[in-house]
Amino acid sequence: MPKILIDDREFEVKEGELLIEIMLQNGISIPHFCYHESLGKDGNCRMCMVEIEGQKRPQIACDTPVKDGMVVRTKGEKIEKTKRGILELELVNHPVDCPVCDQAGECKLQDYYMDVGLYDSRLDVPKVKAKKHIHLGSEIMLDQERCVLCKRCVRFTQIYTKTNDLIVEKRSDRSVITTFPGSRFENGYTGNVVDLCPVGALTDRDFRFKKRVWFLTRSKGICTGCSRGCNIWVDHDKNKHQDDTIYRFKPRRNDKVNGFFMCDYGRYSYKKENENRLYQALLNNQTIDIKTALKECENIFAKSVLWVADASLSLEELAYIKALSDKEEVKLVAFLDVYTDDAFEDKLLKKREKASNINAIKLLGIDIVDDTDEVLSRYEYAVLFNFQHLKEKFSLKKVINFTTTDKDIADFYLNIPIASVYEKNGTYINCDWILQKSEKIISKDIQPLTLIELLARIEKRHFDENGVWKEYLSDIKELKGLDISLVGEQGYKIEAKV
Ligand code: SF4
Ligand code: SF4
Ligand code: FES
Repeated sequence: MPKILIDDREFEVKEGELLIEIMLQNGISIPHFCYHESLGKDGNCRMCMVEIEGQKRPQIACDTPVKDGMVVRTKGEKIEKTKRGILELELVNHPVDCPVCDQAGECKLQDYYMDVGLYDSRLDVPKVKAKKHIHLGSEIMLDQERCVLCKRCVRFTQIYTKTNDLIVEKRSDRSVITTFPGSRFENGYTGNVVDLCPVGALTDRDFRFKKRVWFLTRSKGICTGCSRGCNIWVDHDKNKHQDDTIYRFKPRRNDKVNGFFMCDYGRYSYKKENENRLYQALLNNQTIDIKTALKECENIFAKSVLWVADASLSLEELAYIKALSDKEEVKLVAFLDVYTDDAFEDKLLKKREKASNINAIKLLGIDIVDDTDEVLSRYEYAVLFNFQHLKEKFSLKKVINFTTTDKDIADFYLNIPIASVYEKNGTYINCDWILQKSEKIISKDIQPLTLIELLARIEKRHFDENGVWKEYLSDIKELKGLDISLVGEQGYKIEAKV
């Protein structure tokens, strides 16, 4: 295999690979603005300069294919002077906004200045001014003065969404990012440009000024907005006088599921985790304790009752409900039509099924019912397991509603709060049959029990998701031999013939 030396360290490479890729893969610090793994090289920012033996001038690592025997240096007086010079040029017209900039703490310009800059400004002419606080559309704010013109945002709309919403207008130091006159930046994936922007030029209206990023705890989660199951970062914080609260979702790379990105619908769906939550059991709209609520459940479970499972419950919850319905000999159904939204689907990530575990319903063989009215007409009682749809159809029934939300629940006989997706452990099977784990992230002061804990209490036993795997999931043909504890971040592909 060809070998190269970077700062005296030897690396085996594939001929033709870009030098910057090898450096980033091996954790070698290399400043870069315009290059991004998802967009490739553009060569416009000149931040990634390195010295290459045998070359007169420094070269950009993002447009240098490696060759056997190449000797590269990122340190030393000459190259550091070059890097400082480039950075000084980037900062000539950059406003001194760091204290009021929402990107502070995750700004690449700030990081590089601390790494290789650290000079006093030599500027004795006024900086070129540009527009600030431009609402581009959707949730995106643009500050043209902070832009380093790396064109990542422009290229994202050319390469990924192919909507060409953003452009560079004017020339040289008057160049600015903008939209075409009269058009708004709306393409369903706009939030990704905020993640791509290395500086504070593009910020998220929804998040800005809500929280300094260094206070946030970052945990790994799965989006449950549709059956794609995009991998996400859940950024949350529990400060002194507040409960553990989610502030934003950001995409987390998984090449088998969502690549680098996520859609706006999923990105802003974090809000429902914080809002309209139910924390107290309600019997005929009167608060009751959980013990009384579960006793009442038991009474109704014994009657002729229809159980309805939601397709966003975890695989473990669905398996447990299925096992209990078999044991109690009650009818368990799923209404999958209610999740279908043809207008939502596109060729990128969004899937028409707006539920995260439809394939788990299929794998478990839960009865999928099309004629909702016919099934409902046969039952006087219903138990809804986090099923938030068709509420009007249940208005004449006596309903037990296990739910995360307090919205539109006044008509129901008994409402019981349950933990939400980020308050429990669980697995989800996405549209491509990739099984993914989601772990408990949020711990609230008043934490609703998980659905499994509640059902286990009715059964008068101690039980959790691990127990469900042992008792009810390990025998399923498609899951045989799977050790769930070994399923990693890339998920596990199920060979399903459902
Ligand atoms: S707005 Fe951000 S991503 Fe777009 S060109 Fe400027 S610095 Fe780059
Ligand atoms: S595509 Fe689906 S899973 Fe991905 S972020 Fe959007 S709603 Fe969530
Ligand atoms: S990252 Fe290499 S020129 Fe911009």
